[in-house]
Amino acid sequence: MSPSADDGYIPGTYWERVARRVSARDGEANVIAGDDTTFYRRKRELFLERLLAPATEGLHEVLEVGCGPGGNLAWLAGRGMSVAGADVSPTMLEHVRRLLPDVPLTHIDGRQLPFADRSFEAVMTATVLQHNPPDGAGELLTEIARVADREVHLFEDTAWLCLRDRQSHWLRLPRWYVRRMAEVGFVPVVQERLPLAAQEVAAALVRAAGDRGHHEGERVTSRRQRVEVSLGQAASVVDAVLPTGVGLTRMSFRRAGAPSGEKNGRQR
Ligand SMILES: C[S@@+](CC[C@H](N)C(=O)[O-])C[C@H]1O[C@@H](n2cnc3c(N)ncnc32)[C@H](O)[C@@H]1O
Repeated sequence: MSPSADDGYIPGTYWERVARRVSARDGEANVIAGDDTTFYRRKRELFLERLLAPATEGLHEVLEVGCGPGGNLAWLAGRGMSVAGADVSPTMLEHVRRLLPDVPLTHIDGRQLPFADRSFEAVMTATVLQHNPPDGAGELLTEIARVADREVHLFEDTAWLCLRDRQSHWLRLPRWYVRRMAEVGFVPVVQERLPLAAQEVAAALVRAAGDRGHHEGERVTSRRQRVEVSLGQAASVVDAVLPTGVGLTRMSFRRAGAPSGEKNGRQR
């Protein structure tokens, strides 16, 4: 049973609907699970280049929990890694199957991972736990730590305060994740946030004000795209000078006692 919030938000139900809307976007090669705008494409490029590439350098095997339509799995597989995906939405997994027919995929209930302890060299999430209420996110995190042999890489929106800023989105302090990972025997090794705070806020304002009746995953109007681009350009000037207090954050952890390997290449 997928975790739910008090107001009835259920991640499994919500994301299955998003996946179906993504399917309806005329069969374009979708690698973005939600709204496909210039900002989210740019954020994704920066995520791959600045956060995912260094986190996974030298890894052989990665399980992505909440893999969505499979863009990250394709990127990792293209770098020679053996990958596996798990998601609460069957339609998201159908997207992955079309993109990567040979990759092992598992439909999960949103809480438990049906894998043995320490099954994967590394386990990652990218913008998944932020879409789960605290009890559900905490439970999934414990499962992620259980099935990870050496490393866990979380890429989640964080902020300097805890805030549920929309029905499906919980901003948390990095400390929230660090504390829970410590409870299950993992130590933090890297923490880094993308410098996109003002652009993130600009995109959220345009989403809230400029696209009434729009549901996440649907095609975005060209008007919203245009406004987002111009406001985003102005916001990027702010991001270049101000320290970033909110946004996508890499939080990498190592199992206590496991050797560190990022710089010199990992050994199995
Ligand atoms: C914003 S999308 C991100 C997809 C992918 N990680 C990426 O970066 O492109 C969130 C994904 O997490 C999945 N998800 C959300 N909560 C989940 C849970 N509790 N267990 C498994 N998958 C979950 C959703 O179905 C969706 O595919």
